[in-house]
Amino acid sequence: MEYTTLGRTGLRVSVMGLGGGGDSRLGVKEDEARGVRLVRLALDLGVNFIDTAEAYGTEAAIGRALREVPRGSYVLSTKKTTWAGEPLTPRTIRASLEASLRRLGTDYVDIYHLHGVPPELYSKVRDDCLPTLLEIKREGKVRHLGITEKFVDDPQHRMLEEALKDDLWDVVMVGFNLLNQSARERVFAATRAKNVGTLIMFAVRRALSRPDRLREVLSELQQSGQLSPLDARDGLSFLLDSGATTSLPEAAYRFCRYEPGAHVVLSGTSDEAHLRQNAVSLGAPELPIELRRELLRRFGAVDRVSGH
Ligand SMILES: NC(=O)c1ccc[n+]([C@@H]2O[C@H](COP(=O)([O-])OP(=O)(O)OC[C@H]3O[C@@H](n4cnc5c(N)ncnc54)[C@H](OP(=O)(O)O)[C@@H]3O)[C@@H](O)[C@H]2O)c1
Repeated sequence: MEYTTLGRTGLRVSVMGLGGGGDSRLGVKEDEARGVRLVRLALDLGVNFIDTAEAYGTEAAIGRALREVPRGSYVLSTKKTTWAGEPLTPRTIRASLEASLRRLGTDYVDIYHLHGVPPELYSKVRDDCLPTLLEIKREGKVRHLGITEKFVDDPQHRMLEEALKDDLWDVVMVGFNLLNQSARERVFAATRAKNVGTLIMFAVRRALSRPDRLREVLSELQQSGQLSPLDARDGLSFLLDSGATTSLPEAAYRFCRYEPGAHVVLSGTSDEAHLRQNAVSLGAPELPIELRRELLRRFGAVDRVSGH
């Protein structure tokens, strides 16, 4: 496993992060013990960055898995829900954080994010939450503040473009993958300039792990004029035909891993074999330049899909 510095947080983190959300949620919907095993396997593979949220239902399994592990040896990222219509007051924010800490079995989190903030609510959510966030940071319950976008509804990164004009967030979580590379100019340019820690989500998601979903997404892109009919028909078969990669998930994680500005690529799974493969993929070399150029030529203008 390779490690890097998470921007201005100074945290040393593995380039692969374990994602506790997405469709898979560490398999805890079926069986919490499965989630516990996945977290322990991730640690054995050298992963020290673990992402979850109060909304995912995975904090308790993560807490169980980490019970005997020295606190300084991993980095925990969790999130306060912002979209559910619950008022964001000092009382509700503190109650959420205390419940997350209890489930995680720790007295601090390394990164506390505002979760999935819609663009039209950014300034209200920020103004409602910031005083309390700064207080809990001063109290040492939270080391760094982060914010995550709602990529399925905001594939053009309107919220993060706004948020990055404020110099408040030490870490952002952003959707980026080989189908929608629009974060390169709209987000990474600013995070790199400000040394903001950057976590990548949606590297694979549905479109790059399920052939049927990929066909649907390519057809949507063709209909919206963001992809030529020829490129929509060929899809991503040129990647596999090149012999430089063995699967689309592998190519997709490698693609994100080497993007300048990307610190941690999150990998969400409910499957131990996938977790092992993904650790290998994220340790593999960069995709050959001709494949990256072709991905840019085909998908460089896409900003309407998330790959969900
Ligand atoms: N707004 C937000 O804040 C937000 C939103 C979404 C996600 N996130 C965070 O970002 C993390 C990453 O997102 P994600 O979970 O969607 O992750 P992802 O890694 O892009 O995709 C995960 C999906 O790909 C499948 N997969 C993974 N490895 C595979 C492999 N080797 N072969 C075939 N299929 C594979 C998984 O299914 P299997 O279970 O079968 O492996 C899962 O359905 C989340 O877990 C969460 O922590 C945050």
